Amino acid sequence: MNDTPQRQRRQIYGRRKGPKLSAHQDELRQTLLPALLLKLEQGADPRTYFSAPHRGEVDARSASGGDVSDVWLEVGYGGGEHLLWQAQHHPNIGLIGAEPYISGTAKLLSKLDRQPVSNIRLYEDDARDIIAALPDASIGRFFLLFPDPWPKTRHHKRRFLQMDLLDQLARVLKPGAELRFASDDAGYLAYALERLMAHPAFAWTAQGPSDWKTRPEGWPPTRYEAKELHGPPAFLRFLRTDRMAA
Ligand SMILES: C[S@@+](CC[C@H](N)C(=O)[O-])C[C@H]1O[C@@H](n2cnc3c(N)ncnc32)[C@H](O)[C@@H]1O
Repeated sequence: MNDTPQRQRRQIYGRRKGPKLSAHQDELRQTLLPALLLKLEQGADPRTYFSAPHRGEVDARSASGGDVSDVWLEVGYGGGEHLLWQAQHHPNIGLIGAEPYISGTAKLLSKLDRQPVSNIRLYEDDARDIIAALPDASIGRFFLLFPDPWPKTRHHKRRFLQMDLLDQLARVLKPGAELRFASDDAGYLAYALERLMAHPAFAWTAQGPSDWKTRPEGWPPTRYEAKELHGPPAFLRFLRTDRMAA
């Protein structure tokens, strides 16, 4: 399944801009966002992104910096409710979130304004940039929750999960790291399962249907999930095996 031509890797399918931001959201972009923004450094240990705010003004309400024991990555955090929940419940973990949709980040900034945390870093662009820049075996958990389903066959190549992406994830995930995937789109679910199960670096943890039909512990609902657009959600948990990528 070699389903992503090289040239598509850096094209984001989807919106960057949404409704006009309110004055308050604009202000938060000026005051709160700069210290949270991740400035990618090729090959940098992602824990160093959390040791101190490394870009822009330091805002007392935002990133004060601190040591983290591990780093987790969420792709397409939308309004950021899951990212924030994970950061609040795992204060020793650094959470990197990637989301090119500016209105999504605006929602997260409003939440962070009310509930500051020091262990979130944001990238307002293509998550594949982060994955490409990460060193081998540097990420302890990966989340891809309700990615855009792109249901038409001719659009499947736009889906975030592609075989070459799994190769990249196999490289950056630590042995034993968890990959969490959720979708309410039966087509994307089957497509993701086919690829994940075909990949030697990933092993599905499910023992039976209840393991993927029921929300696991430590996995809060997302805003998109709450809309119940397509059908019941499925929750997949795969582990990075110690086998090499194909
Ligand atoms: C259907 S929404 C789901 C958002 C959120 N995970 C939720 O469940 O509420 C998918 C999100 O993925 C984001 N996205 C799409 N391509 C992306 C990429 N290459 N890197 C990072 N995020 C991406 C979109 O901007 C969109 O916000």
